[in-house]
Amino acid sequence: MDNVITVDHPLVQHKLTLLRDKTTPTMGFSKLMREIATLLCYEVTRDLSLGPVHIETPLMPMQARKLSGKKLVFAPILRAGMGLLQGMLDLVPSARVAHIGLYRDPESLVAVEYYFKAPADLSDRLVIAVDPMLATGNTAVAAIDRLKEHGASELRFVCLLASPHGLNQMQTHHPDVRIWTAAIDDVLNEHGYILPGLGDAGDRLYGTR
Ligand code: URA
Repeated sequence: MDNVITVDHPLVQHKLTLLRDKTTPTMGFSKLMREIATLLCYEVTRDLSLGPVHIETPLMPMQARKLSGKKLVFAPILRAGMGLLQGMLDLVPSARVAHIGLYRDPESLVAVEYYFKAPADLSDRLVIAVDPMLATGNTAVAAIDRLKEHGASELRFVCLLASPHGLNQMQTHHPDVRIWTAAIDDVLNEHGYILPGLGDAGDRLYGTR
């Protein structure tokens, strides 16, 4: 798929393996997630535009470059997306944040919305939706639907793991949204979990199981 970028940087792959390992405890899990988020943020922002600025170094004036394109919004999908947010803000502290509260109904696996709060000017911004697991794709598609309804027109999606089914769903519903992922796994189980995966990202992040 042309619009899927697998970030195979050795540091990302190494940290992802530690995340997948069931013996990694909650504290290590959240730290690793934040670190990978920073590395994924570096990749998803690789083509941001730069413009010239005049500055003075301690030694002389110079023409330097600064980010000049659209301002960024990070849009974590609650709750597991929060595990990726801080690592991305570490790199782009000026980004705004849109919170999207969606959970998967455990029976139907359909995304149910319970919260949405975004900056007013989404149409002027590059919106990067984040959720560690692109599994059935239902949640991601619903989140992008909501962001578009609120005016977002330039969107990207960052996750840790994607399933082929989730990628197909995104391709079908939102072909304009490029996806950055650390890996594409094999399949979903009957509960909509990615295999081999890393388990329930929210539970592992917050120690709730
Ligand atoms: N959400 C998770 O946390 N893990 C999966 O494998 C799929 C969805």
